[in-house]
Amino acid sequence: MAEMFGKYVAILGDPGCRAGWQENFPRLAELLWEEYRPSHVFVPGDMAAYGTVPQNEEILQYCQKHPWEWVVAMGDHDRPVYVFERYWGPPHKVTDLGRWRFIGVDTSSWLLTAEEALWLREQIKEDSIIYTHMPPGIDGWKFHSLSADCTARFFAVLDDFHDQVRACFFGHIHSYDRKEYRGIPLIVTGAGGAEALGLGEDGYEGTRPFQAMTFDTTTGEIHLLEDTR
Ligand SMILES: [Fe+2]
Repeated sequence: MAEMFGKYVAILGDPGCRAGWQENFPRLAELLWEEYRPSHVFVPGDMAAYGTVPQNEEILQYCQKHPWEWVVAMGDHDRPVYVFERYWGPPHKVTDLGRWRFIGVDTSSWLLTAEEALWLREQIKEDSIIYTHMPPGIDGWKFHSLSADCTARFFAVLDDFHDQVRACFFGHIHSYDRKEYRGIPLIVTGAGGAEALGLGEDGYEGTRPFQAMTFDTTTGEIHLLEDTR
């Protein structure tokens, strides 16, 4: 369904899946609002630590503070699905903003199932942006990512649609990183409020600033916003 949208939208993962998010997430989100005024914030999962009603109520209250829309693809911490759906709608979703199609893929079971991959294939069109909780298991991300089978399944989709997919965003890894596959940027944006850890060779190392990504709907440019205050 086509919707009204602004110059910027944001992508921010894992805002609420660790105790203490109330310190970090609103701070980062306020910075995001002040600097970009995004009309939509796409979340590749983990709004809550244990997917409970009170946890969802609490973070929803913050998300409703500004006139922006939060569009969430379900993460592993968001289970069970019947609670998630009550607050955030279906576990996977498609949002058309002008020429851009944002496709939120459900990898909350730690898998990209054959069914979900087929669903994804059916949604992709020109200028699609994919966001999903689990990153593919490539060097540097293997410690916290899809299995080899599911990774192969994900890249098989990108192999067939590399001319249509403009970028992929992931959560689960509570950090920021950027890689590339067949010219498509693959971006981990999981330091969105729960915790913000540095990356070593293939695991966490130290800490880093909380961060979010923004996407310019007029140009397709992707920016990194870091809370370095
Ligand atoms: Fe998380």
